Amino acid sequence: MRAAHEMNASQAWERSRASLDVERIREDFPILKRRVHGKPLVYLDNAATSQKPKVVIDATHRYYSEENSNIHRGVHFLSEQATGAYEGARARVKRFLNASDAREILFVRGTTEGINLVARSYGRKFIQEGDDIIVSAMEHHSNIVPWQIVCEEVGARLRVIPMNDRGELLMEEYEKLLNERTKFVSVTHLSNALGTVNPVKQIIERAHRCGVPVLVDGAQAAPHVRVDVRDLDCDFYAFSGHKLFGPTGIGVLYGKASLLEAMPPYQGGGDMISAFTFAKTIYKVLPFKFEAGTPNIAGGVGLGAAIDYLDGIGLEAVAAYERELLAYATEALCTIQGLRIIGTAKEKAGVLSFVLDGVHAHDIGTILDRDGIAIRTGHHCAMPVMQRFGVPATARASLAFYNTREEVDALVAGIDKVREVFN
Ligand code: ALA
Repeated sequence: MRAAHEMNASQAWERSRASLDVERIREDFPILKRRVHGKPLVYLDNAATSQKPKVVIDATHRYYSEENSNIHRGVHFLSEQATGAYEGARARVKRFLNASDAREILFVRGTTEGINLVARSYGRKFIQEGDDIIVSAMEHHSNIVPWQIVCEEVGARLRVIPMNDRGELLMEEYEKLLNERTKFVSVTHLSNALGTVNPVKQIIERAHRCGVPVLVDGAQAAPHVRVDVRDLDCDFYAFSGHKLFGPTGIGVLYGKASLLEAMPPYQGGGDMISAFTFAKTIYKVLPFKFEAGTPNIAGGVGLGAAIDYLDGIGLEAVAAYERELLAYATEALCTIQGLRIIGTAKEKAGVLSFVLDGVHAHDIGTILDRDGIAIRTGHHCAMPVMQRFGVPATARASLAFYNTREEVDALVAGIDKVREVFN
């Protein structure tokens, strides 16, 4: 029985490896050749930020070397070229998310700004005293604090979907929270601290039955699972470029055009005005109404290149490979005495949070670093998760499609060393 199971697992691994030539893919990422403290870099901090393939580095370099100019403003050659490159990136994002219209794709600084935009603009206009906003107990602070600010400003109340000991949302409790006072739901697609993949389609469908719009925080999901905003029927979806193998300082907020049109601008400034007088200003159409000031043009171009790169590999192949690697890593970590995995949901991706008896997470991170192994330690900006599981911090290894079983083995050997030091 066991042998048959092992054969199936190893066959699945071989299949996913065959669909993804990881050794060749690793050649695309210059930083993966680095040595850290004299050891080969083992980069397992992809949930914090992922590494960049050369095509992304080259695209931003080429933009600054050959095309740099401001967009939407100039009649000269370079400005038109830069505008084309930036708007070309928007078209790629639209395809990537399967949005129906490029007007629904807003460029922002990252997920955090995307959520703040919705909280400030939609929240201030449509949420009032006595209303409820629902978030979940596994949110990153960036999907809690903006809503807390709205609540404080307008006198609304934050309600929290609880989770079970595996780190799965309690859907029946969610249903109980939904009522006539609920005016907004904002949940993560994939938890950065637990790795749980939430049933967002179901969450959205339930909210829509009550006429409530839903924002999905896709910062962790977008690099790992195929996102189809039309299939999800989400009202807003936010993600960051830097976690998706693109540059920092660029991200995306998808919003349904009907909602974005009804919302006031988030910031005022240049390039969002169609007509100005001191008496009244008329704003531009979507998406420009929400894009005041000179944007991160090079970041947009780099994000477009990252999406092309990821599309070339195929998110389905990425997801299959990472699923097998996560299963391998989970099994390997479970053999370590005194180690407890925090977050054991049935639907999981990319993230392994753990605690080790008698050792603080920061000590684990510091000792692993000496062997060139990069993980994140701390509360991961998700303190409600730490509180729920009664731990001050976790050590977190987070995977990408360029990670290998050998790197997982190095992590396990590193944790064994930590145990030796503390024993
Ligand atoms: N939100 C990022 C993380 O989880 C930075 O590490």
